[in-house]
Parts: sequence; C-alpha cells; structure tokens
Amino acid sequence: MALEMNFLALTCVCSLLTAMISVIVLMQKKKSEKKIRKKLPPGDMGLPWIGETMEFYKAQRKNRLFEEFVQTRRAKYGKIFKTRLMGSPTIVVNGADANRFFLSNEFKLVISSWPSSSVQLMGKDSIMEKQGEAHRCLRRVIASSLSCAVLEAMVPKICHSVESHLNKYWHNKDQISLYRVTKILTFTIVFECLLGINVEQEMLGMFERVLEGVFAAPFAFPGSKFSRAKRARKEIEKVLVDIVREKKNEMEGGLEGGEREGTLLAQLVAGMIRGEISEEEVVDNVVLLVFAAHDTTSFAVAMTFRMLAHHPNCFSLLLRENNDILSKKRDGEKLTVEDTKKMKYTWQVARESMRLFPPIFGSFRKAIADIEYEGFVIPKGWKVLWTTYGTHYIEDYFPDPLAFNPSRFEEPIQPYVFLPFGGGPRVCAGYQLAKLNILIFVHYVVTRYDWSLQYLDEPIIMDPLPFPSQGMPISISPKLL
Ligand code: HEM
Repeated sequence: MALEMNFLALTCVCSLLTAMISVIVLMQKKKSEKKIRKKLPPGDMGLPWIGETMEFYKAQRKNRLFEEFVQTRRAKYGKIFKTRLMGSPTIVVNGADANRFFLSNEFKLVISSWPSSSVQLMGKDSIMEKQGEAHRCLRRVIASSLSCAVLEAMVPKICHSVESHLNKYWHNKDQISLYRVTKILTFTIVFECLLGINVEQEMLGMFERVLEGVFAAPFAFPGSKFSRAKRARKEIEKVLVDIVREKKNEMEGGLEGGEREGTLLAQLVAGMIRGEISEEEVVDNVVLLVFAAHDTTSFAVAMTFRMLAHHPNCFSLLLRENNDILSKKRDGEKLTVEDTKKMKYTWQVARESMRLFPPIFGSFRKAIADIEYEGFVIPKGWKVLWTTYGTHYIEDYFPDPLAFNPSRFEEPIQPYVFLPFGGGPRVCAGYQLAKLNILIFVHYVVTRYDWSLQYLDEPIIMDPLPFPSQGMPISISPKLL
C-alpha cells in the first residue's frame, strides 16, 4: 500500500514537473517568436563604424538629402529604415505619425542628441543639452522673453533695425548680396532686440567661425576647422562673460536695465541672481540663441525672395497685400503687431518657401529605452533621425509636392506634417520672433525697392546649414514714391 502511495506521489510530481517544463518552454518559444517579430527595421548599416556617413554628407552638401539619401532608401525599405551615421547606428523615420511619436515622446523615450563637436562649441549648459525638469525651467525663462506682450513691444524695435539696415547696406547700392546682408540684420536683431546687447563689429565673424566647426570632426589639431571654432568660441565667451557680469552688477545695484526691461539677457541674469542658473548657463544659452536664430531666419528670407522671383503672380499678390498695409500708414509710421497679422498671404509665401527649402533638415534623437514602433524595435542607445523632407515632399500630405503653391496654407495643415520649426517639447522657442523678422523685412523691402535675382537657380549648398552658394546677389533700385 505504502509503495503504491509513493509511486502515485512520484507520478504526480513527474506530471507536475513535465507540465511546468512545457509551460516554460512554451513561454520561451513565445518570447523568442515575439523578439523575431519585433525586429530591427530594414536597411543597410554600410561599412564598419563609418556606415553610410559619406553618402549622407555628400547628399547633405548638395542640399539633396531627400532625393539622394532619404528617398532612395525610403523607396527600397519603406518609411522607417536603419543605417549608420557618424559612428552611430541610426533609424531614419518619415511621415506625420512617426514625427508625432518621436517628437512628442521627448524625455520619455528619446532625448535630443547632438554630435560632440556641437556640444563643445554650443556649450554643455545650453538648452539643447538640458533634459526633463532642467529643460522645462530654462525654456520657461526663454519663453517669457518671447511672450506675445514682449514681442508686441519688440515690433517697433525690429522695424527700426530693418530701416537702419536698409539705410546702411541698401541705400545708394545697385547690387547687394541678399543672403549675406540679411545675416547681418538677423544677427543684429537677436543681439539688440532680443538680448539687449550692442553688436560689436567683429562679433559676427567670431560666430561664423564657431558655426563652421559645429558638425566638423571634434579633433582640435592646429589648423583644423574644429580648433579654429574652439578658439572663436573662447573669444565669444570672454566678451559675453564681461557683458553678463556688467548686467548682474547693474541689476543688483538696482540700476536701470533690470528684469522688468524684458530682454532675454535680463531674464537670464535675473535667474542667475536668484540662484536658479549659473553664469555658464547664461553664456551657453546666449551663444545657442544666436545660432538658433540668425542663419535659419536669413535662409528663410532668402528662399522667400527666390520663390517670389520664380513666381511673379505670387509676387503681385504679396505686393498688393503689403501696399494695402502701407497705404493706411502715415509717412514714417512704423508697423505694429496688428499690421503683421494682416500679412496673411506673405506668411503663406514664407511658409511654402520653408516647406520646399527648410532651414533645418531635421535633427537627431537618442533612444533612452528599447522602443517598439510599428512592429520594429529600436534598441536603447540607437539614434533616431527625423527629417522635415520626410513629410514636406510627400504627395499624401502636400499634393504635387514640388510645386510652389502658397495657397495650400489657406487651410489649416494637419499636425506634424509641416515641421520647419520642429515639434513636441523642443519645438522652436523663437517661432514667433522668426515670423515677425521675416514679415517685417519682406514688407520694407518690397514696398521700398524694385529688385531682381542675378541667378535664378543659384545652387544651394549645406555647410552645415543650407545657404545660397553665391550669397544670393540681387539688383536693386529704390521705388519712386
Ligand atoms: C526661420 C527661422 C527658424 C527655424 C526654421 C527654426 C527651426 C528650429 C527647429 C527645427 C528646432 C527644433 C530642433 C530639434 O527638434 O532638435 C528649433 C529649436 C529652437 N529654436 Fe528655432 N528656428 C528658427 C528661428 C529661431 C529664433 C529666431 C530663435 C530665438 C529667438 C530660435 C530659438 C530656438 C531654440 C531656443 C530652440 C531649442 C528649443 C528647445 O530645445 O527646447 N529659433 N528651431
């Protein structure tokens, strides 16, 4: 009897064990099947380490990233594909859904990721390197200097800067380089109107040298782009540290020029006095803002004029809109924010120009967890590249995408389709200022000057941002009023 009981117990244990093992094996099988199903996106990782970097740079330099890099791979692999760029395994994503997913999940699934050279030159304390709460805190300070009330008060200052600029660089000239002189203007507007700092003659040159090294290999050997850029960054730092300390002294001494003046520099220094941000953070963010603001806006202005030259009918409509606004002004009266709100067609033209020629082609993020997306897995640590072209040039979003048609912006555009200013928590903080800059500049030029492009199809190159290769020479003559 006892023997029978033992045998029964043993049989039960064995069956239990068998059942448990079967369940474990089944679970393992399911897990590995799931893993296989959630595979990496298709694509070619290219050569070891270097990957497809050369192809990427080659296409970027000619401003043909979409046609020669993104589109060819998209046609072969689909909307999401893998590659290797600058040593990092990278997933390139395209389309509104992917833009929404990756851009709105900043800090949760991805964080922005810049090359080491950019971080060293912009500074490790700039907003682009801040994550989570630190980012929100800094963004609040920057946003408070770009609020509607501050921008409204800034309009006459921008008008003044534009008028002085025209007097200095356009007056008595019959030819100018539109892109080059606009850069001086946008640089001056950021410094004088936004930051409240007077521009010294040699500053633009220093910033240009830094920009040249932002995407260069981070090797500081004598004569390299990067070492030149680092030296220029040090010179800028020296100038800015003096300005910041002077501002701090003024504000602590209760002298004129306190936080109430609303300039971004005053807001940042106020944060420094309250102990919320450090001197390095103030300097790094001033540097970043100058970069974020001036090349991008000048390129947008240049491309707006290029498109107007190609499309005389659009130019007539735009001119009529601006002449109507001018006709309601007294002699010498400056524009107001209300006037800029009436420039609806002008803004459609500028947006359509930025759709075709986005000043920023996209940017990199880094996965901070394994991400599952559309049946694929993006491993933690991999980069994600979203691009403006990935939606701007796609028929599903913009019918006849290569045609210039400003009226497509008469209707609201669905979210995450039109992205010259990015999206999600890192959407451009200076969007409204850029809009004002562009509208006010276009208004003054078209109402005061007759102009024509010297080269209708001047090649656009990128180094590292896009620009017209000849600086966009135009012939000008003042209008007979
Ligand atoms: C036409 C002009 C401009 C374009 C096309 C543009 C484009 C962009 C884009 C695409 C981003 C997002 C980058 C990313 O997601 O990684 C961005 C961010 C940013 N932009 Fe602009 N920008 C322009 C003008 C300006 C101006 C005038 C300012 C400053 C006053 C500015 C300040 C910033 C800042 C501070 C950020 C970083 C935001 C953050 O990380 O939270 N931008 N811009």
